[in-house]
Amino acid sequence: MRKIGILTGGGDCPGLNAVIRGVVEQCAKAGIEVYGLSQGWKGALTGEGKWLTPDDVEGIQTKGGTILRSSRTNVMKIENGPEKVRSTMEKLGLEGIVAIGGDDTLGVANKLTKMGMKMVGVPKTIDNDLSCTDYTFGFDTSANVAMELIDRLHTTAESHNRCFVVEIMGRHTGWIAIQAGVAANAHVILIPEFPKTIDEICDVLIKRRDRGCGYSIVAVAEGFELGGSEGEVELDAFGNKLLVQKEIGKTLAGMIEKRTGLETRSVVFGHTVRGGAPSAFDRILGTKMGIKAGELVINSDYGNMVALSGTEIVVADLDKAVTERKEVDRAFYDIAELYSK
Ligand code: F6P
Repeated sequence: MRKIGILTGGGDCPGLNAVIRGVVEQCAKAGIEVYGLSQGWKGALTGEGKWLTPDDVEGIQTKGGTILRSSRTNVMKIENGPEKVRSTMEKLGLEGIVAIGGDDTLGVANKLTKMGMKMVGVPKTIDNDLSCTDYTFGFDTSANVAMELIDRLHTTAESHNRCFVVEIMGRHTGWIAIQAGVAANAHVILIPEFPKTIDEICDVLIKRRDRGCGYSIVAVAEGFELGGSEGEVELDAFGNKLLVQKEIGKTLAGMIEKRTGLETRSVVFGHTVRGGAPSAFDRILGTKMGIKAGELVINSDYGNMVALSGTEIVVADLDKAVTERKEVDRAFYDIAELYSK
């Protein structure tokens, strides 16, 4: 009997359960048993988890989060980490692992592949910044939630003649901020890929007020940096900045109010955009990616990643996906700039 493991690592995101369901269903058809490793690479180190049947995963694509739980455990930072994963696989009789995650989780899968272990990657992140795939599931849901939240802020901002700075997740790239910001008519959109000075930002806000527009909304990705504004930050196990401490939204709001005299409030959308049920797009994308990952397992086609290219689910290079970051392109940013007034 063939057996594989499956895990979800890094920040959870809507659509993960659809992938798990797709893998389990596809593998079951070919008589392959699937072991759900608990809490990402943590479960791969300890063996904690459970066998999953098609009945266990029935209908789970409607739920957000991950039934397998997640963690940011970095196998490479644990003493003998790779050997511990190998030992778990041997003990459970797993020929390979389907790793569902972002650049950190897939980076580990890539390194373990190079050490001879059999891995299939499935790209996941609300940030949408993994290369080799047009979209990652979770992004659509998060952008829609952020859009709805900005929609709601318009009326209260207008009623009080206020400026609102909304801080939206996006550690290295501003995909959610620009998608939600353009869709919900934020007046200034700030993302890490295209830096702006405080003078440029305030200039737009003052011109708006001079034209008689009583209120403004600034959408800022959490990873946006104003020159010289970086303070002390802590790093997680993968060396990522713990951005919650940086509070770019709050910092900006204070600076804007001081410079322009406009009454300004800041709102942090935070993990709210990552929670809840997935959109139809993410349920279907997750399902298709899960089924494709199952297909790769059936064909023993390890060492790759499934990806979206246009409307097709394809096989992409795992190594390339984890070494290059997909940033917001100039053309999309120009659209945001067109409406920045
Ligand atoms: O990587 C996805 C993400 O949601 C980022 O947008 C955000 O910076 C980070 O995770 C938050 O991490 P945590 O859930 O560990 O606070």
